[in-house]
Amino acid sequence: TLLKNHGFLSNFYLQNYLDIDLGSSQLGAFFSKNASWISGTKLGLHSKPKMPPCDFLPEKYQSLAYNHILEIHKKHLSPVATAFFQKPLLLHQGHMEWLFDSEGNRYLDFFSGIVTVGVGHCHPKVNAAAQKQLSRLWHTSSVFFHPPMHTYAEQLSALLPEPLKVIFLVNSGSEANDLAMQMARAHSNNTDIISFRGAYHGCSPYTLGMTNVMAYKTGLSSGMGCRSTMCPDVFRGPWGGSYCRDSPAQTIRKCSCVPDCCQAKEQYIEQFKDTLNTSVAKSVAGFFAEPIQGVNGIVQYPKGFLKEAFKLVRERGGVCIADEVQTGFGRLGSHFWGFQTHDVMPDIVTMAKGIGNGFPMAAVVTTPEIARSLAKRLLHFNTFGGNPLACAIGSAVLEVIEEEKLQENCQEVGTYMLLKLAKLRDEFDIVGDVRGKGLMIGIEMVQDKMSRQPLPPQEVSQIHEDCKNMGLIVGRGGIFSQTFRIAPPMCITKPEVDFAVEVFRSALIQHMERRAK
Ligand SMILES: Cc1ncc(COP(=O)(O)O)c(C=O)c1O
Ligand SMILES: *[C@@H]1O[C@H](CO)[C@@H](O)[C@H](O)[C@H]1NC(C)=O
Ligand SMILES: *[C@@H]1O[C@H](CO)[C@@H](O)[C@H](O)[C@H]1NC(C)=O
Repeated sequence: TLLKNHGFLSNFYLQNYLDIDLGSSQLGAFFSKNASWISGTKLGLHSKPKMPPCDFLPEKYQSLAYNHILEIHKKHLSPVATAFFQKPLLLHQGHMEWLFDSEGNRYLDFFSGIVTVGVGHCHPKVNAAAQKQLSRLWHTSSVFFHPPMHTYAEQLSALLPEPLKVIFLVNSGSEANDLAMQMARAHSNNTDIISFRGAYHGCSPYTLGMTNVMAYKTGLSSGMGCRSTMCPDVFRGPWGGSYCRDSPAQTIRKCSCVPDCCQAKEQYIEQFKDTLNTSVAKSVAGFFAEPIQGVNGIVQYPKGFLKEAFKLVRERGGVCIADEVQTGFGRLGSHFWGFQTHDVMPDIVTMAKGIGNGFPMAAVVTTPEIARSLAKRLLHFNTFGGNPLACAIGSAVLEVIEEEKLQENCQEVGTYMLLKLAKLRDEFDIVGDVRGKGLMIGIEMVQDKMSRQPLPPQEVSQIHEDCKNMGLIVGRGGIFSQTFRIAPPMCITKPEVDFAVEVFRSALIQHMERRAK
């Protein structure tokens, strides 16, 4: 506590280079008016979790002043408020799983820019590949050939099973899903597309029809031919039990199922059939599903659900699309692609986010047959899709995932974290559910376990702020913003998980103390 009297820079120095127990929480407290926990609670400075060391030296922040940033934001940027926290973080540098803000605070990044920075911020090998390509050739458009695109197409297709071998390169997840919708329609000659309630598949006018979250439903016309169906959410939905999902952590709900027979799955499939019987034409174009829902708060379906749903859709002439924008590239640990964890073979796979580790890049992969159906109907063109820089980065990302065994790390460290978090669920009544696979984890907050009603968003926000003040960045999700989302760079370690779980536990204790007042 003597350190309190030192100037900011010396604190910064001590924290980052000498690894003295002075995490960003303490520094944050000096600057944050809202650090109420500092005053006299049992969890004051002394029991603050100790942040694991980091030997990276960030530059000193020398750009725009915070207030100036706020002004510019108000005047010139979108008025839609998406930033986390009462006082949004001003970040200026990243290194692997670490982020640094303008005040020199260090954070453990457990959200990776919304499930995007898969191999780590500014990964040296990816940086080197980008720099090399940057000084060689930036852009040609697809009316010329260049080797990075062909190298990448060969590398990516090798990671997908037959017959998923034809790749269309675009720039964002929304674009990828737009194109996949067109493919489904062009191939089937049908219009209707089914997606889950609670799903997020993008914000373009076309994909908005499949995004079933109220905040994105504009009331303006869009989404023609898109139909929603009940999300088979085994925690919040009407059915669910003790063995439903493919995760080391099951729900707290009891059931009388025997192995190989999931009653919840049967019930949700009846709902799916009801949608097919009532809400779509006799023949459909397709069905979109994320293998695990991201934005909806890491929702996992009962085992076997997708397999049966795919069969029903195909019987009606539709194709099946796996949206792997969040689940792909090894994050789920046991498999490289999320669809493999459901033992299904999609007709189209869409990918983005982690594909470029933060560089704008996305892809649609499909069968030669579906690719031909699209080509018959339209000349698909995209100026930036498959540009040399993106492809060089994409190749480096794939190499790093393999060389550093990041998929294996997701399995090992993710399972370790899930089991630790499941203990917190048992300890705290407001932690309703812990779920996920690999390094895609959800913690659903409730008023109490009996009701499973969502914890009010303001309360979830307080816990969220407290975690940030202790140096841990996590995400949010769920239609009530009730679920914490954890999806760190895939290179994190067990000691970092220990720190994160300790921070989360401290934040929960602080919250219980607040509630008791
Ligand atoms: C599952 C899923 N699909 C599609 C998208 C849209 O991607 P983008 O924001 O790159 O357009 C997102 C973005 O969050 C997503 O999570
Ligand atoms: C869709 O229509 C085209 C002709 O417009 C036809 O060649 C193709 O076989 C049809 N596809 C299916 C699945 O019916
Ligand atoms: C759907 O319709 C079929 C008949 O076409 C019927 O056998 C089935 O019970 C219906 N299912 C639901 C859930 O409505």
